[in-house]
Amino acid sequence: MSERMVRKLDLKIALSKIRPHPSPNAYLEQYTITPEVAAELLYLAAYTHDDIADKTVADLGCGTGRLAIGAALMGAKETTGVDIDRAAISTASRNAERLHVTPITQWVTADITVLRGDFDTVLQNPPFGVQRRNADRRFLKTALEIGRNIYSLHKSTDNNRKQSGTNQKTKLYIDTPSRFLKKTIQRYGGEITAIYTLQMSIPHMFGFHRKPKHQFYVDLYIIDSQH
Ligand SMILES: C[S@@+](CC[C@H](N)C(=O)[O-])C[C@H]1O[C@@H](n2cnc3c(N)ncnc32)[C@H](O)[C@@H]1O
Repeated sequence: MSERMVRKLDLKIALSKIRPHPSPNAYLEQYTITPEVAAELLYLAAYTHDDIADKTVADLGCGTGRLAIGAALMGAKETTGVDIDRAAISTASRNAERLHVTPITQWVTADITVLRGDFDTVLQNPPFGVQRRNADRRFLKTALEIGRNIYSLHKSTDNNRKQSGTNQKTKLYIDTPSRFLKKTIQRYGGEITAIYTLQMSIPHMFGFHRKPKHQFYVDLYIIDSQH
């Protein structure tokens, strides 16, 4: 598929057709990126940085496939989604059929660390490490081993300050890196080129969720691999 301009609204509408995971698992932090945040990330990657059209794209911890399928809709050469959970992968594959991008998408059921290859772009919304400490660190390491340009979402530091600062849905802030992530990214051979803060929301999914909808901020790290 070659480069083409996709209106952000059309992209959000397409991405909202992605069907959810039938039985999400809290331990794997299986919540889905919102169509709004996915569209912002894909727009930045495609039109600000030219990292999608005609590129090979990996989506690590792809879940139901929103980022991989979005990249395919925006003209990626080929997208590969990897998830450890078989039900997530079969849902992603059916979602790709529904959105007519099956020929340029591949789905792999595996731990991300077994993926080998050389991808132009890696997109990831990893577990934040709330259930398993440092889960996001493993994702960063793999992303930097296999990819050149990385778009990685992380739970934002200082959510309280941001929460009181705005109630806009997908306001973009330019932010500063967390010291921990900066050190981790440097250790694995990456250089942070930009950080944007976006508002994410997840519906009530698990027994421990207290509100019908949980809203919080995430930081999108854009990283160049120095390998
Ligand atoms: C926060 S969800 C994001 C799902 C999807 N990328 C999205 O944004 O809608 C994290 C995903 O990572 C997957 N995952 C967690 N640990 C993994 C691992 N070690 N290898 C592969 N996938 C993993 C989970 O099954 C889950 O689907």
